[in-house]
Amino acid sequence: MSDIATTAESTARSSLAAEVSRRRTFAIISHPDAGKTTLTEKLLLFGGAINLAGQVKAKGERRNTRSDWMKIERERGISVVTSVMTFEFEGLVFNLLDTPGHEDFSEDTYRTLTAVDSAVMVIDAAKGIEARTRKLFEVCRLRDIPIITFINKMDRESRDVFELLDEIEKTLALDTTPMTWPVGRGREFLGTYDVVNGGVRLLEGGGAKTGAAQQIEIAELAKLNANLDVSAVKDELELVTAASKPFELEAFREGHLTPVYFGSALRNFGVGDLLQGLGKFAPEPRAQESDQRKVEATDPRMSAFVFKIQANMDPNHRDRIAFARLCSGKLSRGMKAKLVRTGKSMPLSSPQFFFAQDRSVADEAYAGDVVGIPNHGTLRIGDTLTDGEDFNFVGVPSFAPEIVRRVRLTDAMKAKKLKEALQQMSEEGVVQVFRPRDGAPALVGVVGALQLDVLKARLDAEYSLPVEFEVSEFQLARWVSSDDRKKLDTFIAANTSSIADDVDGDPVYLARNEFYLGYTRERAEGIEFTNVKDVK
Ligand code: G4P
Repeated sequence: MSDIATTAESTARSSLAAEVSRRRTFAIISHPDAGKTTLTEKLLLFGGAINLAGQVKAKGERRNTRSDWMKIERERGISVVTSVMTFEFEGLVFNLLDTPGHEDFSEDTYRTLTAVDSAVMVIDAAKGIEARTRKLFEVCRLRDIPIITFINKMDRESRDVFELLDEIEKTLALDTTPMTWPVGRGREFLGTYDVVNGGVRLLEGGGAKTGAAQQIEIAELAKLNANLDVSAVKDELELVTAASKPFELEAFREGHLTPVYFGSALRNFGVGDLLQGLGKFAPEPRAQESDQRKVEATDPRMSAFVFKIQANMDPNHRDRIAFARLCSGKLSRGMKAKLVRTGKSMPLSSPQFFFAQDRSVADEAYAGDVVGIPNHGTLRIGDTLTDGEDFNFVGVPSFAPEIVRRVRLTDAMKAKKLKEALQQMSEEGVVQVFRPRDGAPALVGVVGALQLDVLKARLDAEYSLPVEFEVSEFQLARWVSSDDRKKLDTFIAANTSSIADDVDGDPVYLARNEFYLGYTRERAEGIEFTNVKDVK
């Protein structure tokens, strides 16, 4: 009997390990206009979600059925909310977590990066590394997320390719290994040379779409384009093959080296190589740190953390979807999970998968997968769900706001409703709310100005609360803590008019400007001021 049980257990373990090992959970980081949306569409095409191609950044009419606050996205032609797309390719399950690409971004972008195991960095070949790519790259580096590079728009005039690689190496301190190399440039761009296996894949031809290698000898290139200086191409390829750093998996996984692919998302070229590279090199779901122990992805007990909350698209229903990343075990529909923060159990009766075609009801999910859990406000960002164990995942951050405002209500009778609404919005991660200890009206803080527009539109549409934002005397907020409880209490007592509580009741120091902050910090011995806080 016990033998049978042991066999069943080990079979379950090995099928769990097999499911985990075929998952790749990643995000695309890029500067606006580098081609992230186009690349996303093409990646989904490989996954068979053909009906979605051309609809990822649904501009115009397709958005009309969505809720009011989505208008902001529509008007600005940008994607405010991050979404999750799951597709399969060559037996692997890819979870692509979309991050907003606009330069005006929210904390969601950063938090999404806490839920991925690798990232694809898309670079416009004519522009190189741009500001926003660098910023997102820095977040990836903080978390040691390995990066695969896709240099896009090779069908257009580009910067010198060696110079582009040099820029990545110098500005990001990241070694590069070209896995493919462009043959011809701009109008003369014919395809890419496979640096690892040799042979050229042509832009024109079936191989481009399927990703299948289409070998052609370099000497034959002259027949395809009379303008191409074949001997120069030969010399260049010899140089690249001889001088490139060899690809080292470990250096890549540690975030020191990036494999580089060249292509054109628009022409669906090079995308197959990239996807194969992701499948081959990108790590499987990694172990996650908790306050008790490191949780391995193959651990049979179910655990997950919430990294994003999205309000329902329908403003008449106040239910929300919590996006949770599975960290271990198997999540099955109908199972009960423990919400560690409250100690209560919640049924996962209709978790949703975000398969590219539509939101489909999930029957089971494994480490690396992201599921949407509909709820009426039970779940918060940073929450840990387990099958009964008591631990909390760490590392889902809150960031100190860059903009602090006071909310002015045009109808003073609705103050209580505003308080509730702000509480909900802060739990969803739309804004941070700071309640001054001296009883002054609450302040809201955001990382990007767009979040203020989202907040205003949503308060109006969902709560009928028209609000305005006023500049407050405070511009900066920093969490304060100390190893010495007494010192913290003394500091707080001496600065009450500048202390507020965040949504968890943790103390925050509000400063008029950098000067005040620096001045106070210098004098506050033993007090730590931080601009990032792990969400509890
Ligand atoms: P984003 O999500 O990173 O902001 O970029 P997106 O994919 O929307 O691409 C930005 C523009 O660049 C789009 O043109 C897109 O068609 C173009 N593009 C993307 N990849 C390539 C490529 O490989 N080669 C060339 N030549 N162009 C590319 P647009 O005219 O601004 O937008 P649209 O009207 O076509 O949507």
